Amino acid sequence: MRNGDPCVLVILGASGDLTHRKLIPAMYEMHQAGTLSKFSCILGVSRSKKTDEQWRTELAVWVQKQVKRFDASSWKEFSQRIYYEPGDAAIAEPYQRLGARITQLNSQHSCRGNVLFFMSVAPELYEPIVDQIGSAGLVTEGHRWCSLNQSERSWQRIIVEKPFGNNDASAASLNRSLGRVFDEEAIYRIDHYLGKEVVQSLLAFRFANSIFEPLWNNQYIDHVQITAAEVVGVGQRIAFYDATGAIRDMIQSHLMQVLAFVAMEPPTSFGADHIRSEKIKVIDALQLPDPNRLGDFGALGQYGASSDEKAYTELDGVKPGTTTETFAALRMEFVNWRWAGVPFFIRTGKRMAAKRTQIAIQFKPPAANLFQSVMPGHLSGNRMVIEIAPNEQFSLRFAAKRPGHMSISNVEMMMDYAKAFASEAVEAYGPLMIDAMRGDQCLYKHRLEVEGAWRAIMPFLDERSNGIRKGSQLNYAAGSWGPKAADDLLAREGRAWFNPM
Ligand SMILES: NC(=O)c1ccc[n+]([C@@H]2O[C@H](COP(=O)([O-])OP(=O)(O)OC[C@H]3O[C@@H](n4cnc5c(N)ncnc54)[C@H](OP(=O)(O)O)[C@@H]3O)[C@@H](O)[C@H]2O)c1
Repeated sequence: MRNGDPCVLVILGASGDLTHRKLIPAMYEMHQAGTLSKFSCILGVSRSKKTDEQWRTELAVWVQKQVKRFDASSWKEFSQRIYYEPGDAAIAEPYQRLGARITQLNSQHSCRGNVLFFMSVAPELYEPIVDQIGSAGLVTEGHRWCSLNQSERSWQRIIVEKPFGNNDASAASLNRSLGRVFDEEAIYRIDHYLGKEVVQSLLAFRFANSIFEPLWNNQYIDHVQITAAEVVGVGQRIAFYDATGAIRDMIQSHLMQVLAFVAMEPPTSFGADHIRSEKIKVIDALQLPDPNRLGDFGALGQYGASSDEKAYTELDGVKPGTTTETFAALRMEFVNWRWAGVPFFIRTGKRMAAKRTQIAIQFKPPAANLFQSVMPGHLSGNRMVIEIAPNEQFSLRFAAKRPGHMSISNVEMMMDYAKAFASEAVEAYGPLMIDAMRGDQCLYKHRLEVEGAWRAIMPFLDERSNGIRKGSQLNYAAGSWGPKAADDLLAREGRAWFNPM
């Protein structure tokens, strides 16, 4: 893999949780791996007043905590390339200083005029900050911005964190604001799920083998389940969560991306344009639910109390009478040649029975059961489970004859990522940020993907969803697999959730 281009990485929101726990540890790991260009540096910006040295000391504590292979000498070398500039990035005041500091660091570290902005602030600040970056003239769209090497054009790019908007209209507005300052090729809408090895390997699995793709359609697949379950509750992020809910927090962003990888057509190549246009196309083919029958397409829930934690509705900071969902199960269908008639069930929840993120592909049973005498009724179909977390595994269930007498049992064939490749996991943000430094948008979302994903879930968020956001219908026991309504969603069609043991 090509290393990141030289650049000044400007992190807006330098003293926040994401920067401490993920971004700086990820960049340090990339420095250790040698994929971060040695002609690059980091400039942190937030309102708190501190010096370069104070920020380095603060970060050292976090990096030691987060990175298994921390070593003092490589940290010392890396930390000398980290700088800090205090300022309110949402107003014009600090931009003259900021621009001068970027220019000076660019020259000091031979960064060739390249600047990568990382928006790690609260989402309501994205638009004001982008406006200020534009007004300050920090983006010159490929023209020389500081003259270091006349033979090369510089670039300025921006990584934008989720949540990308709060609904379809605000996402479109943010896209317009970004578009006024940056070209689409310079906008990197990040989803750290796409940095996970097993999500990416789904593409290799589908398109680097010949045996799966012929079966990957409505002739052979009965339905697909995508689950992201957490054992923990909403924790400290109560106000944020109560304004957001499970659908916005997990489904609109991460799980819609997983869905697109499972369902998209083969791209012409493993290039960003080809992959993203297939994702846009498949998201566009999602059928919107009938607003009068939302109960047939979705089930929402709120977790109850347990011995060690209050019920969601009793938490301090949750609005009285809140209908914000901590669990959501949605039934989606594509109107296209490959998938017509195949339901895709997506569910996510807090305080569930197990921590698990997985995709289960349920194949149809054999057309006829030749083994009626020993196995009456229907044979169960094959099932492929792609586990994304906590383990990274592919498993395939198939029927086999038991030794001795004639009887059929289901057995599992398993590929465990850690065993097969004996590689150490790195923070998902690292390789994604290096991709942005290389100009590779393969694992970043296009404007139309984000807007399409919002369009598909809006019926479950606006007033049309009131019917499935009512009183006791919402409750589920902490430590369970969600409300009864979620089981009913599948049971109505003679299907059932695949709940891991
Ligand atoms: N934390 C995560 O794991 C995570 C995961 C996915 C997405 N995200 C997203 O990433 C973003 C950051 O999240 P976070 O958890 O790091 O939030 P956070 O802990 O609240 O940090 C926000 C940062 O923004 C700075 N800030 C606030 N107003 C500012 C301004 N006007 N100008 C410059 N800096 C300003 C704050 O520092 P000062 O007060 O010193 O200015 C702080 O450094 C959010 O959009 C969040 O939704 C976070």
